[in-house]
Amino acid sequence: MNPEHLPEFYANVIDSVGDGVIVLDGDGRVILLNPVAEELAGISRRLSLGQPFSVLFKEDTLLLEMADKSAASGMSISDHENIVLKRGGRITPLSVTVSPLLLGDGSRAGTIVLLKDLTNIRDLEAAVRKADRLSTIGTLAAGLAHEIKNPLGGIRGAAQLLDMELSEEDELRECTRVILKEVQRVNRIVEELLDLASPRSLNLVGVNLHKILAHIVFLQQQATEGKSITFQRQLDPSIPPILADEGRLTQLFLNLIKNAVEAVGENGVIVIASRVVAEYSMTQRGERRSRMVAVEIGDDGCGMTREEMENLFTPFYTTKEKGTGLGLAICQKIVAEHRGMIRVDSEEGRGTTFTILLPIVQ
Ligand SMILES: Nc1ncnc2c1ncn2[C@@H]1O[C@H](COP(=O)(O)OP(=O)(O)O)[C@@H](O)[C@H]1O
Ligand SMILES: [Mg+2]
Repeated sequence: MNPEHLPEFYANVIDSVGDGVIVLDGDGRVILLNPVAEELAGISRRLSLGQPFSVLFKEDTLLLEMADKSAASGMSISDHENIVLKRGGRITPLSVTVSPLLLGDGSRAGTIVLLKDLTNIRDLEAAVRKADRLSTIGTLAAGLAHEIKNPLGGIRGAAQLLDMELSEEDELRECTRVILKEVQRVNRIVEELLDLASPRSLNLVGVNLHKILAHIVFLQQQATEGKSITFQRQLDPSIPPILADEGRLTQLFLNLIKNAVEAVGENGVIVIASRVVAEYSMTQRGERRSRMVAVEIGDDGCGMTREEMENLFTPFYTTKEKGTGLGLAICQKIVAEHRGMIRVDSEEGRGTTFTILLPIVQ
């Protein structure tokens, strides 16, 4: 059988299949190879036609064993776990099925090898495993945070009492100050952790984003007095109110703007921009294209390395001495609660821009 004689229609069908298809003749030579198979195996159709399968895939012993077994037994054989193709530095996990090619009279004319790329499925599995792990850790952490809150209150109360007992010039007051300051810090970590780990119901109202942003910028301008940090607002006045939880969004943008302030240090420019975009958003029924508001928080601060970018959003990941590493994890949670998206662009030494996309209606 020669693929040249296949009606063009059938050839097109096989070329259009999303999985790799390789057909071998009775002697194990390749007589047909579709574009996906070319791509997965890293071989061209032109060079592989007529070549023995066992030569083209000589490194892939498991695959050859499957072909041999199928040829010997006349049965269809599948492996969804173990086959991995290594081509040009790329590693592709595959699900493979090898079946006999039978003619109308039941006689065997060759073998069909089907290759299904599992890369996306493996990535998805890894993401699910990570999410699972995080949710277990989250439950544990929330329990722990809860347990810490009460004794912490006791320590604070006792330190305050002690502080009041000591006379104004007593040197021990330095110690009570340290206790109170550090208690405050632990308290912040505990609050943030509880925020991250506990489920929330949103209080949805029509929110004026610009009002929230103006308020945060006002507060940050006061907090950074003495430094030369410029806040630039490039807000699109036509943005409608969006249906969202005002308190949660305030926290989201406060976290991002604080990070920008911390990234620029003593001087820099922080840009806060907004616009309406048409984007895909996640809904309960899957993806849908809808109108969204994009808010960008950009800074010309320290930027991030690749490694820092990879760890972003991981709870407790921080590069700051006094950081908690929970701010962005909370941001991500708030954005997910609103069915929005976060994008990050960053270049080491040049700056970072976070883009938040929020659907106008939920
Ligand atoms: N605008 C930014 N510029 C540079 N790095 C940033 C920026 N925002 C966040 N990061 C990095 O992400 C890390 C985690 O941020 P976050 O979750 O807010 O925790 P924290 O601010 O307590 O460190 C930061 O320690 C920093 O390394
Ligand atoms: Mg932060």
